[in-house]
Amino acid sequence: MKLSSRVLGIKHSAIRKFYVYANKAKAEGKKVYYLNIGQPDITTPEIFMEEVRKYDARVLEYAPSEGIPSLMDAIIDYYRRYGMVYDRHNVLITNGGSEALTFILSCILDPGDEVIIPEPYYTNYATFIAMADGKVRPLTTVPEDGYHYADKEKILPLINEKTKAILLANPGNPTGNILTRAEMGMICDLAKEHDFYIIADEVYREFVYDGKEMTSFGQFEDVEDRVIIVDSISKRFSACGARVGCVITKNHELHGNLLKLAQGRLCAPTLEQIGAAALYRMDPSYFDEVRAEYEHRRNVVVDALRSIDGVVCEKPGGSFYVTCKLPVENAEEFLIWLLEEFDDQGETVMFAPAEGFYATPGLGKSEMRIAYVLKEEDMRRSIEIIRLGLEAYKNRK
Ligand SMILES: Cc1ncc(COP(=O)(O)O)c(C=O)c1O
Repeated sequence: MKLSSRVLGIKHSAIRKFYVYANKAKAEGKKVYYLNIGQPDITTPEIFMEEVRKYDARVLEYAPSEGIPSLMDAIIDYYRRYGMVYDRHNVLITNGGSEALTFILSCILDPGDEVIIPEPYYTNYATFIAMADGKVRPLTTVPEDGYHYADKEKILPLINEKTKAILLANPGNPTGNILTRAEMGMICDLAKEHDFYIIADEVYREFVYDGKEMTSFGQFEDVEDRVIIVDSISKRFSACGARVGCVITKNHELHGNLLKLAQGRLCAPTLEQIGAAALYRMDPSYFDEVRAEYEHRRNVVVDALRSIDGVVCEKPGGSFYVTCKLPVENAEEFLIWLLEEFDDQGETVMFAPAEGFYATPGLGKSEMRIAYVLKEEDMRRSIEIIRLGLEAYKNRK
């Protein structure tokens, strides 16, 4: 029986599809450093488990579809720190940022509608847009200028009568780049002039470096009816397995329709929401140490990458990823070779080839994304293996 053309048009995740090679390498006894996925190694704050353990109801019940009130209130208080004032009618708790994105896109897209996304982008965006029968309209960037995209002249030609939204991860995944307030203002003006939504994926909000302050699209009052914030505890609190995120919007019509989808899937997990409320209530000083650790790793990784001949790598300002150009024609083939045929003292590396982060065919072929989610020593060793691998790859018969 035939499957839908919708699902057949979706690609496997560029982040996960190389595990078969990594698993084989492991089975052969190699140690693999996993730099391919944004799974932080930072300990999940103990308070999460403590709160979950306190739960003593006789029945583990469904939560309300829109989320448990204590979590919504904790999120509202967290946002107040940034001068953003919300109430419970602006918040909807979801199963991670992923479900937030699928709900939003289902609510705003009709078949064939377009979403502008800077490429390279978080690869699952393409999956979520396809699930809503929409189309990615890529805003192409290049490694040589740090994947910069906030240029009015580049964005304007992409806008047409099908444009429903611009979808931005800020700080970025996979590039780690961050927008300035002026650039955000320009994007807000375009959204007003051309009547589209701004989907602001701010799951990496706390990870901004070099002493810079993070600006949120939620701070631009003149576009508050068209800004839709995606948030999540996965990365911010190192709690990826909890599956708790949210949508934040002051657009009441949108919120009311998101709620229909939330009711359809009943609820986000009850216990994890209880744990998440405690995370959002933690003192903001929690982030100082985590941010400093990531910033240090970023510096180590970028310096090490730049010392490799032929690598093009601009220093990203946030999140915990670096995307860069390698001196190879095809990073996917290089990765498979690293896993299948190469090791240094029994060790090798898994990264994410960047081609799958682009919509435009042929782009990103020689680029890779790495996540600096391992401790400094392991990151140094991983980049050293990539350096040795590149030399051996160049000299192979
Ligand atoms: C930019 C971005 N948005 C959303 C997500 C989804 O995360 P989750 O569903 O775990 O909240 C991720 C995960 O890597 C991401 O990088």
